[in-house]
Amino acid sequence: MRRPIIGGNWKMNGTVTSAERLAGDLRNGLGSCHGADIVLFPPAPLLWPVQRKMRDSSIHVGAQDVHPEISGAYTSGTSAETVRSLGCTWALVGHSERRSWFGDDDQRVATKLATALSQGLNPILCVGETLGEREQQRTFDVLKRQLDSALSRHQSSALGALVIAYEPVWAIGTGVSATTEQVQETHGFIRSHLTAGLGEAFGSAVRIQYGGSVTPDNAPTLLACPDVDGALVGGASLNARSFTRIVYAASPQRPLASAWRGAP
Ligand code: PGA
Repeated sequence: MRRPIIGGNWKMNGTVTSAERLAGDLRNGLGSCHGADIVLFPPAPLLWPVQRKMRDSSIHVGAQDVHPEISGAYTSGTSAETVRSLGCTWALVGHSERRSWFGDDDQRVATKLATALSQGLNPILCVGETLGEREQQRTFDVLKRQLDSALSRHQSSALGALVIAYEPVWAIGTGVSATTEQVQETHGFIRSHLTAGLGEAFGSAVRIQYGGSVTPDNAPTLLACPDVDGALVGGASLNARSFTRIVYAASPQRPLASAWRGAP
């Protein structure tokens, strides 16, 4: 049985005040949830205030990106070593917005993944095809390339708690999520590809999140797919109530109605 994992990718949103408020509301609302791993990804300058709020709670905090190098003259870079020193334990690697806006190609993503692992961060490797690639029936080829380039240099034992996030680019921020059939088919492909490359034990244990326009309304059906082990949530993670509902949709331990104690 794989434990569900729900990530909240806040992207480039928030101030210290709004981040502390959201973090506080989530801590209140999710304090009684033990059925899923929860990881928040605030913008880099807000990692510390959010991490501080989550101290001694079961909610984890991670970086949206890390630099391929551990330190050095890389103005504006976010180092995995720095992130780990804040007490953060996770990092997104290869998010499609990094790939399309910041030039993160497969090679750079692979180096970032290796650097995150070397610093003791658990990576969430994001993969996914564009609409054009899906229409040309190249989805599986694209996913194979993205997975192999990042993972083939590692033994399964070195991958720690690595999570894969399948995020079709055409579903991110569009309000149009993939269908449950598309999601299950693609997650099944990812799992069998990883099983072939890294072994049965790894393939059956690795957690695969779906991301792309996940909402409290579509989360229950998406999360019910047998190979979906959680969600990476963008827009809906900026609202404490929406994100909390998504977490509880993933958690076998559902809350009493009174468990929500945060702001509306
Ligand atoms: P979205 O973003 O939920 O707003 O579509 C998901 C993501 O980019 O991780």
